[in-house]
Amino acid sequence: MFVLGIESSCDETGVALVHRTRGLVAHALHSQVEMHAAYGGVVPELASRDHIRRLLPLTRQVLGTAGIGIRDVGAVAYTEGPGLAGALLVGAGAAHGLAYALGVPVVGVHHLEGHLLSPLLADPAPAFPFVALLVSGGHTQLMRVGGVGDYQLLGETVDDAAGEAFDKTAKLLGLGYPGGPALARLADAGTPGRFKLPRPMIASDDLDFSFSGLKTAVAIAVRGRTLEGNDKADLAADFQAAVVDVLVAKSLGAVDRAGVPRLVVAGGVGANRSLRERLTASAAARAIEVYYPPLEFCTDNGAMIAFAGALRIATFGPAGSFGVRPRWELASLVVPE
Ligand code: KG4
Ligand code: ZN
Repeated sequence: MFVLGIESSCDETGVALVHRTRGLVAHALHSQVEMHAAYGGVVPELASRDHIRRLLPLTRQVLGTAGIGIRDVGAVAYTEGPGLAGALLVGAGAAHGLAYALGVPVVGVHHLEGHLLSPLLADPAPAFPFVALLVSGGHTQLMRVGGVGDYQLLGETVDDAAGEAFDKTAKLLGLGYPGGPALARLADAGTPGRFKLPRPMIASDDLDFSFSGLKTAVAIAVRGRTLEGNDKADLAADFQAAVVDVLVAKSLGAVDRAGVPRLVVAGGVGANRSLRERLTASAAARAIEVYYPPLEFCTDNGAMIAFAGALRIATFGPAGSFGVRPRWELASLVVPE
């Protein structure tokens, strides 16, 4: 059976096809980055309208790549939340319309569950249970994942998410939108150590994070100063090192606390090269296995939604009524009896 997956929670339209035994067979993505860049951030109304334009052409594209017809689709999965309400509604409308027309089940997927399970798209895939570091633009959480639908929150940010800190700091340094990847590129050209930035909450006796002070520390470091030469790159490198230090320390702490020697990294910041290198090295020194989704599936995509939807259907059976949940805690995901 083929599951069609639709992601439209923010500024990326993603569509993918997953087969029950063959795994991911096709995926396509349209990023709205260029469209929103002129405004310095995501404009929700423009995002919704663009999802409407892209969804069906992308669906035709993945069907073509897979060499199947729309009638071969056995279920439709879509991102039910969290995200921008209008953008989510476009995906929900398309998914329910298609499923109704085809007479197949539809399943609403939690966007973060998609991220959380995306490392299973890698080869080799991690076995359950594992600890997951979920680092995206909206969330920074450590979870113990016992299986599909079995998620225990170990710690999370008390203010900004790691990706949000990257984006806001990038804006501060005049790097525009989207800032995270640009800041990471600049950081790779700099040398850390010159600017003494804090490592917020690194020694706190819990698995929580705080990143808003770091952005403020960067703001203070640049105040009244003309950045010249390598200043910007060095500052970016220091910022990145501070975020990575905290993420690595807390992840290792979570692995200890959960007693599970397997760590997976998911979400957009999981694409960060420095984070990957540091985590891989620290984990190897402690005999911890680390898994990352393929780079293209770190940031938002349809494959993770099709994949999580297929796993949900296989585990719990098809379920879902029409709806979106712009605000939706992953911890509140109720495991069907
Ligand atoms: O998971 P994602 O695509 O969307 C959300 O669900 O939020 O994550 C996007 C976030 C943005 O904040 C972006 O700046 C950040 O991930 N990001 C990065 C990198 N690539 C994306 N942050 C640091 N380094 C990167 N290479
Ligand atoms: Zn995401």
